[in-house]
Amino acid sequence: MFHRVFLPETNTPQIELPTELALRMGCNLDQLKVLPDVAVQALDIAKDPNCSVTRFSTVVEQDVKLTTDILRMANTVVFSGGQRITSLHQAIIRLGFRHCKNLILSSCIGSLMRRMSIQETNSREKLYKHGFLTALISANLNNLFGIRFMGEDFTAGLIHDLGRTLLAMFMPTEFKQFDKLDFVEDQYLLEREHAALGTTHCDVGGWFVQHNMLPDPLCQVVRFHHQPELSGEGRLLTTLVAASDEIANFVHQLGAPRELPIDKLTMLVKLEEVGVDRAIEKFADQSTQIVTMALSDLCSLNSRKS
Ligand SMILES: [Fe+2]
Ligand SMILES: [Fe+2]
Repeated sequence: MFHRVFLPETNTPQIELPTELALRMGCNLDQLKVLPDVAVQALDIAKDPNCSVTRFSTVVEQDVKLTTDILRMANTVVFSGGQRITSLHQAIIRLGFRHCKNLILSSCIGSLMRRMSIQETNSREKLYKHGFLTALISANLNNLFGIRFMGEDFTAGLIHDLGRTLLAMFMPTEFKQFDKLDFVEDQYLLEREHAALGTTHCDVGGWFVQHNMLPDPLCQVVRFHHQPELSGEGRLLTTLVAASDEIANFVHQLGAPRELPIDKLTMLVKLEEVGVDRAIEKFADQSTQIVTMALSDLCSLNSRKS
């Protein structure tokens, strides 16, 4: 049984997948449930605008791992600004309910990515790190550009390539043939996937997000992060994640923030097209600091993982 969390119903049509893949994934949906019961309960309580911090934190604290994860993420430099947050109560006061709800979602998505059984652990780790690096860059860009998402930036960055992890799990042989996990992505990537699989990692991830009843803006990011112009109302969030994904890909390829080729960051141009003022110039000024901070936060999230 799945519950829709904290965002209104959507009119987005159901994504269709090739029958065999849909059957394989459908049979395993229970095992791949994103939200544990405590998270569903907490997100439900937080729908009430008069919900008390104590009531909310008491529910979340029933799940020790969830609480620990939220505190770890809340204590990254990008969210805490270097000021230590020591309790869930303090995190809610400092960051706000909306932000904490997104941290709950992020924690659950991170846990899911960890427990997905993929033959090659190395592939899962690479995709896990790519998700978190994209999430951290997205949160940094959100701050840099003053966009004012409240954690959606991080959650969406984390989940954007979930379809790749699902393909590695459910179509391991085919996945290995077309995705080398080298993070070199060109404009024909989706066409190649479609020719090989009859679908793309974007649609596989989107299908999964829909079947877990997660918020529609997340579904849009997952589906359209390679073509943000196709995203509807969530276009700004999708473009922000697309830009962060592109930067994360270059970081994986180059391994050194100072070498980022600003002129090749095509998604920053698209961010300007959706109204983010001087995105290229602002990022060019801060690129080294942003990538360094994201890598440092990624290290601290990874070094304390259970
Ligand atoms: Fe992708
Ligand atoms: Fe990606």
